[in-house]
Amino acid sequence: MRTQAFLCVVLFIGGYIAAPLSEEKDDKIVIPRQIFDDNFIKCKAKHDIVDVMVPLNAFTLKTNIGFDSDSKPDMTVFLVEADLKNGKRVDKGLYLYKNDEVKMVLPNGRAAAASFDDEKIVYFGASDGLYVYNVDSKSADKYGKFSDSIIDIATNIDGKHIYILSEDHKLYNVTNEGADKELLQDVEDAQEIVLDDSGNIYFYDSNKDVFIKNADGIIKVQGLPEGRKSLNLVNPPFIMEESVPLMIDNALYVIKANGTAEATSLEFSANAKPTAYGADIFPVQY
Ligand SMILES: *[C@@H]1O[C@H](CO)[C@@H](O)[C@H](O)[C@H]1NC(C)=O
Ligand SMILES: *[C@@H]1O[C@H](CO)[C@@H](O)[C@H](O)[C@H]1NC(C)=O
Repeated sequence: MRTQAFLCVVLFIGGYIAAPLSEEKDDKIVIPRQIFDDNFIKCKAKHDIVDVMVPLNAFTLKTNIGFDSDSKPDMTVFLVEADLKNGKRVDKGLYLYKNDEVKMVLPNGRAAAASFDDEKIVYFGASDGLYVYNVDSKSADKYGKFSDSIIDIATNIDGKHIYILSEDHKLYNVTNEGADKELLQDVEDAQEIVLDDSGNIYFYDSNKDVFIKNADGIIKVQGLPEGRKSLNLVNPPFIMEESVPLMIDNALYVIKANGTAEATSLEFSANAKPTAYGADIFPVQY
């Protein structure tokens, strides 16, 4: 049993993306390990944290305004834990992290997605289908009638459109409030998905090529670094317009809806690289 503590929440990504271009924009900003120790929320986990979701809606908006660095933010964060062994993933549950406490919400939960608006809608994907977060009981209620094994989930701004990625890497659009699902046939071999503020769907395949599904079809993202080993799509903070953050190995890129990729100046040193990312609008120093 592993008892090591893992860094799990990275709250400054949105701040860097929002930063106006400065004269130093060509200098790389490398995030050293120490930066996590004082400034950012950490939590302890028995297993690797494979997904972090900070719902950018009513759960967090209120608490962010007027946040000053001395007070502890009352953040709501959903974490997914798993053991990663030889590239295989063994699910260890989906948890709610709030007020420094961690609560198990869904033992077989694998991914979470939230609406961006002022409703508190959070969906979970699990090994036996789709769930919706019940704010009052802090638990998960089954949503829809599917029992698909879901590996990732995304929703749009108002939480009305839900997309689920099944274990066999097929993407479905959940329709009629969970009664039906529609296969998106042009999306193939998707490994991970996120949506931008306009509802464009970003995904990458097992060849580590990145694609965007928009109203007209699929476009392939250009300008990614050669020889990339690992990709991780991050849910965009709501200040990002028609673009999403993508971690490529240790460096943060921004993928735009027109299919271009841009390196940011943000990079993690090898020992500071978290196992999962969340983004938020916390103020940061430049
Ligand atoms: C998913 O379904 C909704 C209707 O429930 C529709 O408005 C939306 O365009 C669909 N998304 C895609 C990508 O087809
Ligand atoms: C893509 O969009 C960005 C900003 O939205 C713009 O700066 C860039 O020139 C566009 N690139 C192409 C090839 O259209």
